[in-house]
Amino acid sequence: MNVCIIGTGYVGLTTGACLAYLGHQVTCVDSDSGKIETLCSGRIPIYEPFLTELVAEARANLRFTTNYAEGVPGAEVIFIAVGTPPSPGGGPDLKYLRAAAQGIGEHFDGQFTVVVNKSTVPIGSGNWVGALVRESYEKTRGHKAEKQFSVASNPEFLREGTAIGDSLYPDRVVIGSDDARALETLYTLYRPILDQSFAGPRFVPRPEDVGAVPLISTDLASAELIKYAANAFLALKISYINEIGQLSEKVGADIVQVAKGIGLDARIGTRFLHAGIGWGGSCFGKDTAALVATAGEYGLTMPIVEAAREINRRQRERVVEKLLAELKILKGRTIGLLGLAFKPHTDDLREAPAIEIARKLIDRGCKVKAHDPIAMERFEQQHADLGVICCESPEQVADDADALVLVTEWPQYRELAWDELVTRMRSPILLDGRNALDRARLTRCGFRYLGIGG
Ligand code: UDX
Repeated sequence: MNVCIIGTGYVGLTTGACLAYLGHQVTCVDSDSGKIETLCSGRIPIYEPFLTELVAEARANLRFTTNYAEGVPGAEVIFIAVGTPPSPGGGPDLKYLRAAAQGIGEHFDGQFTVVVNKSTVPIGSGNWVGALVRESYEKTRGHKAEKQFSVASNPEFLREGTAIGDSLYPDRVVIGSDDARALETLYTLYRPILDQSFAGPRFVPRPEDVGAVPLISTDLASAELIKYAANAFLALKISYINEIGQLSEKVGADIVQVAKGIGLDARIGTRFLHAGIGWGGSCFGKDTAALVATAGEYGLTMPIVEAAREINRRQRERVVEKLLAELKILKGRTIGLLGLAFKPHTDDLREAPAIEIARKLIDRGCKVKAHDPIAMERFEQQHADLGVICCESPEQVADDADALVLVTEWPQYRELAWDELVTRMRSPILLDGRNALDRARLTRCGFRYLGIGG
């Protein structure tokens, strides 16, 4: 099929590359000419494992352009995958979504197409996007749009860092529209994924337990709500274990064991039950806030979701509280952060706990040093004002530090020469913000090991 994708961020680019890999003809449109130049030259403007390889493999079916006129006419499906960053008022800023809808309306040629919201958009945005496309089409053409396009929602559930695997071998595909023709078109588009009838790329092979993928084909509002309800549930699962972690610490229990003991109950599941400094990233914070705001528009409150947000906020403070309890005075101390990205295997810093933790420590008079294997360049570009000293190696972070905090559980941090690192520090305190390191080993190396949740 002919597919156009507006927006080449984590979601748009991954979706485009995967659909092209499956054999669809994909044109990716982005207004950022720098990004398009990078993509045309075979490079990838973000860090996502194996995306460079996938784009290279599917290159014959992929085009990159800044021009809507090269992607929109003739497309049977147009995905809107632009950013919806938080606005100063808290709600999502929909200016990119508006621009995309208008761009589609201006360039669309009247042949039936499905306009799909892939970005996380507020519930009800499907109708709004439809109205914008129609208005701009009618303004450009001077006549009414009849039934040439339908709007659908197709929420993505891909996690950064494992985006390709999550896209090619998803737990389910959700499509929502109030028009049967649109659902039929999307069903055809996703058929290879639903049937798992394609050969997986060698760099992200199909896991053995993947069979046919369930399809949820529903109305527009339900699909939009599924996305929010799923993300909020995952977020509250994490906040739940973090709340239990606070009690666990007080009673002298070990939250890692507690989580395992809870999670092995198949009704609960072990995933998204890792206690630590809380969630970050572009989705959980924004989506839980939007869910609460949407409920508010209908006179409803969402106390469970609100509590999950509050617990997550508190987790960041606990880092400072723990360091304060150990060091007694924070002014003039040097604290080293290992990891800046909001999670491993990405360079994404949106709502990264490291930023908030660094800010709190600097406000308290600490000197903060940091290292990240991938996200450091982006951090220096985006957060130079924070005053964090970026170091080329974990060893440099440890030099003369009063404490180290593991903020992002990059696998390489597990393998550091901890016995050597400890000798570089002023005091051997290690706060494992992700409960990811081997407590016994670190203690043997001479660290005073602190986890989150006991
Ligand atoms: C999330 C959703 O998982 C995905 O389905 C959706 O489409 C986009 O948002 P992402 O933000 O990429 O994906 O990362 P995810 O792996 O979900 O992690 C989110 C945050 O939660 C990270 O900061 C991670 O460190 C934290 N986390 C995750 C925990 O603190 N504990 C856990 O058990 C799991």
